[in-house]
Amino acid sequence: MLNGKVIVLGVTGGIAAYKAAALCSKLTQRGADVHVIMTSSAKQFITELTLQSLTKNPVYSDTFDERDPSVVSHIHLADLADLVLVAPATANIIGKMANGLADDMLSTTLLATTAPVMVCPAMNVHMYTHPAVIANMETLASRGVSFIEPGEGLLACGYVGKGRMEEPEKIVEVVETFFEQRETEDAHSGSDKAAGILTGKKVVVTAGGTIERIDPVRYITNDSSGKMGFAIAKAAKEMGADVHLIAAHTDAASPEGIKIEHVESAQDMYEAVMREFEDSDLIVKAAAVADYRPAKAAPLKLKKQGETMTLELVKTTDILETLGQNKKSQFLIGFAAETNSVEQYATDKLRRKNCDLIVANDVTQSGAGFGTDTNSVHIYDSEGLVLHLPLLSKEDIARRLLVLAAERMAKGEA
Ligand code: PMT
Repeated sequence: MLNGKVIVLGVTGGIAAYKAAALCSKLTQRGADVHVIMTSSAKQFITELTLQSLTKNPVYSDTFDERDPSVVSHIHLADLADLVLVAPATANIIGKMANGLADDMLSTTLLATTAPVMVCPAMNVHMYTHPAVIANMETLASRGVSFIEPGEGLLACGYVGKGRMEEPEKIVEVVETFFEQRETEDAHSGSDKAAGILTGKKVVVTAGGTIERIDPVRYITNDSSGKMGFAIAKAAKEMGADVHLIAAHTDAASPEGIKIEHVESAQDMYEAVMREFEDSDLIVKAAAVADYRPAKAAPLKLKKQGETMTLELVKTTDILETLGQNKKSQFLIGFAAETNSVEQYATDKLRRKNCDLIVANDVTQSGAGFGTDTNSVHIYDSEGLVLHLPLLSKEDIARRLLVLAAERMAKGEA
C-alpha cells in the first residue's frame, strides 16, 4: 500500500517516543521509505540507532549536521516527503508549528515542507486540554494539518484521560487511507489534466480474449470481457487521439464513436496489430491473448471417441514481444494478469517484452481483473513501481494510465 511513498517521521520527546520504533517498522514493512528526524529530547527516550536500523535510512537531529554537500538536509527532506508525520508530537512542537518557529532540524523541515502534515499528539491530559494547546491545534487544523487524536487511558504521568498517543497499527491505517484517498482524488482529477493530451497521436488498443478454435463449434478462450481495453480506447479518444481498437471476444458494450476491428484468434490479432504498428505512437495491449492454440483446428465437428482425448497445443506468436523487438519511437504498454508473485512476473514481462510500462493486475483481488467494472493495478517501468492505483472504475484507471503515458511520451521516453 505504501510502496514508493516517502514519509518523513518527526519524533519528539515524550514517553510515547518508544512507539516510534513500531511505527517505523510497520511503515517500512508496507513499502514506505521512512526518514526520521528526532528532536534532542526524543533522544532521551529512544536511540537514533534503533530508528536507523528499522528504516535503513540515516536519522537526522542536528540542523547543522550536513552529510551531503550537494543538498541542504532540511530542505531536501522537506521536498522529498510525500507526507510528514509527527509522532509523538509534544505540546512544544505543536506550539512551535502553530507559531512558525524553526529552531531545530524538525521544526525547520516542518516550516519548509509543502507536503501534507499529520500530527499524533501525546501528552498529559491537562496539557492536552490546555487552552493554549487547543488554540495551537485549531490554528494548525485551519492550515490543513491533520491530527490523529490521542486515545484515553492510563498515562505515563499517572493520570487517566486523553493524551496517550494512538497505537502504531492505527496510525498506519490512517496513513494508508490518506494515500488511498489522495490517489482516488488524483484519478478523478485526471480528467482535467487529460484534455487534448493525445491530440495528433495514433493510439492502438487491443481488448478482449482471443478464441482459439478446436473445431467449428468449440474453442479455447479466457475470461476477458474487453472492459479494460474498451475503457482505454474511450479515454484515448476523449484525450484527442486517433484510436484503432482491435478486439477479440468481448461481452462489454462497445465504446461509442470508435470503430472496432473485430478479430478472433491470437494470429488474427497479431496481423491486425502489425498492420497498424508502423505509424502508431502508443500501443496498449490490454487483451488477454492465448499463449497456446490447438496445433490443428478440425474443419468439421469432432466426434466423441475414447475415454480420453489429447489436444496438442502449439505456441502462438507473442504480439507484445514482437512489438517490443521492433519498436522505434512507439510507446508500448503491456498488461499482466497475475494470481501470485505479481510484481516479479509483471516486471519480468516488462523486460522480456521491452515495454515502456506494464500494468499489473492481481486478479485474485475482488473487484480487480477479468469481467469487473473496476480494477486495481500497479504500474511498473524498468526502474520499478511508478504508480499504484487502488480500486477504481476501469475508466478512471484508463485515464490515469494514459495521462502517465502521455507525460512520458512528451519527454521522449519511449
Ligand atoms: O477484459 P477485462 O474483463 O476488462 O479484463 C481486463 C484484463 C484482466 C484482461 C486486462 O486488465 C489484462 O490484464 N490483460 C492482460 C491479460 C494477460 O493475461 O496477459 P498475459 O500475462 O498473458 O500477457 C502479458 C502481455 O502480453 C499482455 O499485454 C498481452 O496482451 C500480451 N500478449 C500475451 C500473449 C501473446 N501471445 N501475445 C501478447 O501480446
